[in-house]
Amino acid sequence: MNLSNNTVLITGGASGIGFELARQLSARGNKIVITGRDQARLDKALQQLPDADAVRSDVSSVKDIELLFERIARDSPETNVLINNAGIMRDINLHDDAVGVEDITREIDINLSGTIRMVKKFLPHLKTKPAAAIVNVSSGLAFVPLPISPVYCATKAALHSFTQSLRVQLQKTKVKVFELAPPATETDLLRHGDPQDLKGVSIMSVEDMVSAALKGMEKDQLEIRPGQANQLKFMSRLAPEFILKQLSRPVERMLSNS
Ligand SMILES: NC(=O)c1ccc[n+]([C@@H]2O[C@H](COP(=O)([O-])OP(=O)(O)OC[C@H]3O[C@@H](n4cnc5c(N)ncnc54)[C@H](OP(=O)(O)O)[C@@H]3O)[C@@H](O)[C@H]2O)c1
Repeated sequence: MNLSNNTVLITGGASGIGFELARQLSARGNKIVITGRDQARLDKALQQLPDADAVRSDVSSVKDIELLFERIARDSPETNVLINNAGIMRDINLHDDAVGVEDITREIDINLSGTIRMVKKFLPHLKTKPAAAIVNVSSGLAFVPLPISPVYCATKAALHSFTQSLRVQLQKTKVKVFELAPPATETDLLRHGDPQDLKGVSIMSVEDMVSAALKGMEKDQLEIRPGQANQLKFMSRLAPEFILKQLSRPVERMLSNS
């Protein structure tokens, strides 16, 4: 797809991968609207994004999605690209009584339900555009789980599946459906866990990961798997038990310490 002269809405665009997408897309002549929950973070991001707009909006809130849509329809009706990037990742010990029944599904509300609801709400609008795209940001962990983050990985596997179905259902429209499955990328999300767990993992800089993502989009590569994300997909097919065992090391350490 053509990566200039679009208006791009990026959820979770004030930091990490979302911010870098905003920065590189803005530099290529696209208008940008970012969202997030933290107004101070949005304000700080806007200082580095000329002509961008920001809307405080929580993707896990249906009300916020409705209000965001109204705001976009009013102030940026030319919006033709939706990047569903907002996400959280937690290490969760399923034996831990401190993790409650309500809190356990927080990743589902944000990473999965948030993305599906954004697609549902914005799809009629995107279909009116001569060229449009939806980009769902999943993960290399969509293909094989990292068991220390069980709910996160379940959301990314489900998002991969949803994106495949969405692509098939939209095949006769002008809306292209991309999946960006990042590998371990240097952002706050990656810094949440024990650095020991990242031993042997090659971590991509956010700048390189986003450059690879945009290159893929330009070539209409619908499933973009930069760096080790591609190897995870390959290994999940070739040696699924082996790769799961490799990714189980951090949880084994967590269980032996608890
Ligand atoms: N970094 C990696 O290694 C990696 C690898 C694979 C996939 N990914 C995926 O890439 C995406 C971006 O992650 P990142 O690494 O850039 O992490 P990040 O720096 O923590 O950014 C996540 C962004 O999402 C926003 N966000 C979180 N919950 C939200 C909500 N309910 N509503 C709206 N915005 C929300 C956060 O802003 P607020 O807190 O202000 O809302 C933040 O700006 C995620 O979907 C993640 O799963 C990352």
